[in-house]
Amino acid sequence: MPESISKCRTHYCAQVDEGLTGREVTVMGWVSKRRDLGGLIFITLRDRTGIVQAIAAETNPELFKKAETVRGEYVLAISGQVRDRTPENVNPAMKTGKIEIDISELKILSEAEVPPFSIMDEGVGMDLRLKYRYLDLRRPALQQNIIIRHKIAQATREFLNQEGFYEIETPFLTKSTPEGARDYLVPSRVYPGSFYALPQSPQIFKQLLMLSGFDRYYQLARCFRDEDLRADRQPEFTQIDMELSFVTADDIIAVNEGLMKFIMHKALDLEIETPFPRLTYTEAMERFGSDKPDLRFGMELSDLSAIVTPCEFVVFQNALETGGSVRGINARGCAGMPRKQVDALSELAKTHKAKGLASIAITGDGALKTSLSKFFTEEQLRAITGALEGKPGDLLLICADRDEVVFNALGALRVELGKRLGLLKSGYKFVWITEFPLLEWSEEDGRFYAKHHPFTAPMEEDLPLLSSDPALVRAQAYDLVLNGVELGGGSIRISSRELQQRMFAVLGFTQEAANEQFGFLMEAYRYGAPPHGGLAFGLDRIAMLLTGAESLREVIAFPKVKDASCPMSGAPSDPAPRQLEELGLIINNKERIQQ
Ligand code: AMO
Ligand code: AMP
Repeated sequence: MPESISKCRTHYCAQVDEGLTGREVTVMGWVSKRRDLGGLIFITLRDRTGIVQAIAAETNPELFKKAETVRGEYVLAISGQVRDRTPENVNPAMKTGKIEIDISELKILSEAEVPPFSIMDEGVGMDLRLKYRYLDLRRPALQQNIIIRHKIAQATREFLNQEGFYEIETPFLTKSTPEGARDYLVPSRVYPGSFYALPQSPQIFKQLLMLSGFDRYYQLARCFRDEDLRADRQPEFTQIDMELSFVTADDIIAVNEGLMKFIMHKALDLEIETPFPRLTYTEAMERFGSDKPDLRFGMELSDLSAIVTPCEFVVFQNALETGGSVRGINARGCAGMPRKQVDALSELAKTHKAKGLASIAITGDGALKTSLSKFFTEEQLRAITGALEGKPGDLLLICADRDEVVFNALGALRVELGKRLGLLKSGYKFVWITEFPLLEWSEEDGRFYAKHHPFTAPMEEDLPLLSSDPALVRAQAYDLVLNGVELGGGSIRISSRELQQRMFAVLGFTQEAANEQFGFLMEAYRYGAPPHGGLAFGLDRIAMLLTGAESLREVIAFPKVKDASCPMSGAPSDPAPRQLEELGLIINNKERIQQ
């Protein structure tokens, strides 16, 4: 039988320090460890603040007998006097390592079976940890992550409240919001065959709130996207979502630099410098091969197109003749990289659709080792190494293709080499990426898609191109990138009904389809719309970067795994036949999709 609490808790475990020596304290928590040393039993008790050591001595036989029954993860209330440890027993690695509690009373509040894994064991497999997530969450490292997440959320509220924002909730059961992923649908009982869509973001509602005159809105909004999951993507996640009226992109950027500065201060006690640097999309692609560049290291791309013209190499020729380019990066000090590893880099480039990767190794005495020598004069090769600032010991990697492929391939190689060469130094490098293309052409579907979403305003000077050459139109959109991860993005919105209609037309919506999906929004723009814009950060992603976690799973209390299931609760699960009947649903395909 569990005992009941007879004394109030006086302190959290890690609060018990040498300042309390001689005082009587009561702590409560879980048994992290129990060791028997002859006539003494040592119990390490753990709560959310940390651990403290308590001791039961044989001289108190009744207490000693009870302490002997204690096992790992039992929940205890321990009362006793705080005393200094003898000098040889001081543990400097422990916050409470100078003291111990001499137990006078021990209550077993709950017994515990042997857990499926040892809480402090760092080597436990992810599947098992997630099946018993409530035990996994007892690990101090994970608790710290969740606490930092809490601080980020609270700092966000505090800052945005100060800046005159109102926190407003928007519906979960709603219509599809176009953010480019599949919707999660919820069947309607009242209208059999009809479905709500869970929001991919509060986008449409926050725009409507601006039309209503709220001027500045924010929400820590749960969003749902049925997309392929990765370390930085969960099917449900939280956005710091905001929208502002009567502002320019610069105003929005300034508010959000203030927000990030405040978050870094509150969550990590770190002072960061603002304003953050800005790169246009084109500059980011040309210099780093990515629209989310990691600025913790250089290794920038160089355009070699002019240098390699003319050349005998058909691959390069073809790329250049079809409007593509030849570009390269310099992997410093990698000339001696074993063949196998260079091949692996080439394979990585191929996963980004590159047809191949050429390399030039500059040996210690300055000679060039390359399969390109048969196609180029010595002078051209020297010009290439010059453009890439090649020095003895360097390995130059070169790719020729359509620009998009060259950027993606070299961008990925740059990040991979940055990791391998230990260039990803600690620290936080923020950068805004601006002037994104408004549209993205899909070869597969033969149509344009909005790169951000269909409500994003084109740059005014590019408006004439919307009819003549839509691919060249730039958007009033911006992303904030931190250490190579997209933290968030937003845009100035289209606030004119006519322009929005033109945009839908460019995106291939018939008038009918646009009305069917966005009619209520278009209607709203008839009645007076302020110029407005906004942004959304991934709260989970901010937490991941600020805790140094490798995956969003480490900063979400109850995350999903790759196939969007929850190993702990077993969701998703089969509904009862009656529920299906009520919803008018018949399941005719139960084949599982392999992820
Ligand atoms: P966007 O689609 O770029 O913009 O999303 C904004 C930010 O949300 C985070 N995010 C995710 N985090 C975890 N798991 C996911 N599956 C996931 N998908 C997105 C990212 C991303 O930068 N309504 C617009 C914002 C706006 O225009 O105001 C929007 O949702 O950190
Ligand atoms: P080959 O003549 O096939 O031996 O190719 C010469 C070198 O060019 C090899 O290292 C190939 O990997 C490389 N190569 C092939 N296609 C490309 C490409 N699109 N861009 C850069 N290098 C390439």
